[in-house]
Amino acid sequence: MPRPTTVHVCSACGHSSARWHGRCPGCQAWNTLVEERLPAPSTRANRRVAAAGAAAPGRPVLLSDVSTAAIPRLLTGIGELDRVLGGGLVPGSLVLLGGSPGIGKSTLTNMALGNLAAVGRRTLYVSGEESAAQVRMRAERLTSTEGRGGALSVPVLAETDLDTILATLDAERPDACVIDSVQTLHAAELSSAPGSVAQVREVAGRIMQVAKAADIAVVLVGHVTKEGALAGPRVLEHLVDCVLQFEGERERTYRTLRALKNRFGSTNEAGVFEMRDTGLVEVLDASARFVAEATGKPGSVVLAAMEGTRPLLVEVQALVSPSELVPPRRVVNGLDRNRLALVLAVLGRHGGVGVGSADVFVNVVGGVRVEEPGADLAIALAVASATRGVALRGPSGDGPIACFGELGLTGELRSTAHPDRRLREATKFGLRDVISPESTPTLRQALQVAPKTTNKPERAAA
Ligand SMILES: Nc1ncnc2c1ncn2[C@@H]1O[C@H](COP(=O)(O)OP(=O)(O)OP(=O)(O)O)[C@@H](O)[C@H]1O
Ligand SMILES: [Mg+2]
Repeated sequence: MPRPTTVHVCSACGHSSARWHGRCPGCQAWNTLVEERLPAPSTRANRRVAAAGAAAPGRPVLLSDVSTAAIPRLLTGIGELDRVLGGGLVPGSLVLLGGSPGIGKSTLTNMALGNLAAVGRRTLYVSGEESAAQVRMRAERLTSTEGRGGALSVPVLAETDLDTILATLDAERPDACVIDSVQTLHAAELSSAPGSVAQVREVAGRIMQVAKAADIAVVLVGHVTKEGALAGPRVLEHLVDCVLQFEGERERTYRTLRALKNRFGSTNEAGVFEMRDTGLVEVLDASARFVAEATGKPGSVVLAAMEGTRPLLVEVQALVSPSELVPPRRVVNGLDRNRLALVLAVLGRHGGVGVGSADVFVNVVGGVRVEEPGADLAIALAVASATRGVALRGPSGDGPIACFGELGLTGELRSTAHPDRRLREATKFGLRDVISPESTPTLRQALQVAPKTTNKPERAAA
């Protein structure tokens, strides 16, 4: 009988078993057994090493003696991507690019490889999801604009077998390689299905070994589960050097690229893209667009948000409408749902704005996600304006109001990072009235821009 090559190990207690069990025979926990590859059988040679007391010792080097020849980065030619990566791809590094289906992961990686190929870099696109013909169709779409001639000169390998892919990487030695996607690859030693925890871990681990040995910058494309986590084990996030998240709503054109982890750069950076038929286009004037589109009607306010180190003006809209439902709906788009609950509580307790049993919808226009406490004041002002049925009016009475600030539980406004940059961005785009914790210390004072009216939609909602 052939010797088994895998074993099932409980991730809770470490119990190992030849067969998979739904419940661990060791600790009785459910669904904790994960398939793992057994180490290679010991040969006579490595038994000798083990007998001699393990391997020869390594030689530590003083940090001051370590040579620091600057490693040239690979510039993908997509400014926003390079910036989020911390200045381009690092040779020999592993980048995980996650995003929900259809968001544009393949488009982004195709474009990046195309640009690298155009400047004479060796590239490889491994497609486990699409046939070579499908990849070509996309490349043709991306090439239809001038100056993107490289997309069609990228070699493609439509393959899902891990060993074949590793052998190809070793033979071709590209400078940059994209694996689309890590969940479709299959290591023959493991019997579990592609995309399972064991497979994804094995695939990523072995690709990393080859990437580091041959100095190949590898981008692993990964899918995101419904809950928004990168599918596959969290261990993948520990393994790779950089985790990028591509997000946005498929139906909308704006997409944001963020770094969740980066060993070679800041994780504060974010890039904004727009999906067009010719591919992804960097949006460098996002603030101008969002401000121009801001309605200035009841329930609308401009939030001076920070996307990493870059300020971004976005419109936040709220709708408060009477509801028959118990409990009423609290729906957010592009914001944290828990923050809405907190803001509504503070508004009721310290701002005198009660939404009662009305439905509350809050939306960041354009499909942008803002995940920072600085959005609190924008939610509060938008909801207050929607509840009272009045458009926000600042002291100058001219144009939409911009705001930022965190809401304290006692009704005070708290400072957030980079107030000066946010203020400058608002001024740059012609917003004269900016409400911030620096100018307005309490929520009650901030709410003066949404005065109560006599025709009281507030009561109708409550
Ligand atoms: N002709 C077109 N015009 C405009 N947009 C297009 C066109 N063709 C495709 N798209 C956009 O490209 C998106 C798909 O891009 P892409 O295949 O790169 O996504 P993906 O993240 O790789 O998806 P998957 O998870 O399925 O691999 C579509 O959702 C659509 O928004
Ligand atoms: Mg794809």
